[in-house]
Amino acid sequence: MENRFTTLPKLAQRRWVLALGVGLAAVLALAIFASAPVTPAAAQDDIPPLAPLPPVSAPSDNSVTPEKVELGRLLFFDPRMSGDGSMSCNSCHPAATGWGVQTAISFGGPGTSHWRNAQTLLNVAYYSKLNWDGGKKSIEQQNGGAWGGAVAGNLDKALAEERLAQIPEYVERFRDLFGSQYPLWDDALRAVATYQRTLVSQNAPLDAYLEGDESAISDAAKRGLELFNDKAGCINCHNGPLVSDDRYYALGVPQNPDFLDSPLKQITFRYEFAAKGVPEEVYRTASEDYGFYFVTKQAEDIGKFRTPSLRDICYTGPYMHDGVFQTLEEVVTFYNAGGGDNPNKDPRIVPLGLSEEEQADLLAMLESLCGDQVTDESPELPPYGEFVFPDEEK
Ligand code: HEC
Ligand code: HEC
Repeated sequence: MENRFTTLPKLAQRRWVLALGVGLAAVLALAIFASAPVTPAAAQDDIPPLAPLPPVSAPSDNSVTPEKVELGRLLFFDPRMSGDGSMSCNSCHPAATGWGVQTAISFGGPGTSHWRNAQTLLNVAYYSKLNWDGGKKSIEQQNGGAWGGAVAGNLDKALAEERLAQIPEYVERFRDLFGSQYPLWDDALRAVATYQRTLVSQNAPLDAYLEGDESAISDAAKRGLELFNDKAGCINCHNGPLVSDDRYYALGVPQNPDFLDSPLKQITFRYEFAAKGVPEEVYRTASEDYGFYFVTKQAEDIGKFRTPSLRDICYTGPYMHDGVFQTLEEVVTFYNAGGGDNPNKDPRIVPLGLSEEEQADLLAMLESLCGDQVTDESPELPPYGEFVFPDEEK
């Protein structure tokens, strides 16, 4: 761990003006924290409260229709949308188990491993950017990497279009929906993204409570909600209908030891970030996942990750970007101890002093965010047809 942040000083030097600004802000924040015995939450008033999710909105060039959802659903489960035909989106985001593979760190496409936890796909429609580091700007863009990238589908675009063209039912469905003679890659992305816009949490007891049904959650969950909103300060980042502010913070989540032990994870990790244009001195020496830094290349973003939604959290473990916590109890223990170690750690991640009973109440509140589990089953996939010359088509 010695050289953990060896690159930090060099990078920071170049950005001394910014560093000065951050320093001043830190002094200011310290002054505020020192001046009164504030709880982490009490310092801010403009935090959007927890609330039921609004209807999903879709991009103007990709409206949600039932036919597009159905095509996207078929594509989501179709292993022919990977280079060697062995895996579909459902392999790493299984519809039956919370839409995220339940190992701490996801596997990768053949010959690779991932190095991060595969998040749930529930409620992805509500984030402004995708992935733990916000590296992708839309679901469509994210999915292009998922099918095409070397770490997941490893599927060549032209090969994908040809495979789809040989499946008569797909040809027909694409033609009806998008008007092209043969299926196109970008339209496949539109369809599979549309399917994901339907994956929305349903009927959380907490929503019923927030809408006035006093009996919807237990007394423990009610006490937990108070803690969440005040003493424990969770609302600072996990707020609004999504229970996420869609921003990036360092908590000092410990690196999953599996990451360093596995040559395949090391290869994939360093390859991915080399491919993303991270300076060689950084990607060769980094000993842990730098998160948001890989997108911004700013030293102050090392170790930051996107605040995840806590909706349906009971179904989506293991937790954190590297799946290092198996249970919600471990997560609450981590926060109660003031998080972990990181130079960019958010100043609100401090020891909380929650008693055993208060921690149990907080857990009851988290459970009240879990509604009817949204699942799906693998549909019957349309088979390849016999080759037909275009001029023979009826
Ligand atoms: C080999 C495993 C694997 C496959 C196959 C795969 N994914 Fe993922 N997916 C992951 C991992 C791991 C992440 C987390 C990546 C990150 O944050 O950097 C992820 C992240 C995502 C996200 C971002 C979620 C969020 O909250 O920001 C979406 C959306 C997604 N995947 C959709 C898909 C779709 C759709 C497919 C099929 C086209 C697919 N994935 C195929 C492993 C996989
Ligand atoms: C400063 C912002 C911030 C505060 C305050 C905060 N969180 Fe988080 N939370 C995050 C971020 C960022 C992550 C992801 C960190 C990572 O993966 O490294 C996270 C992850 C989680 C996860 C794991 C979710 C998943 O899908 O893996 C849970 C559960 C959680 N937080 C609960 C809480 C609770 C309970 C509190 C209050 C005690 C709290 N958080 C306070 C920002 C915050």
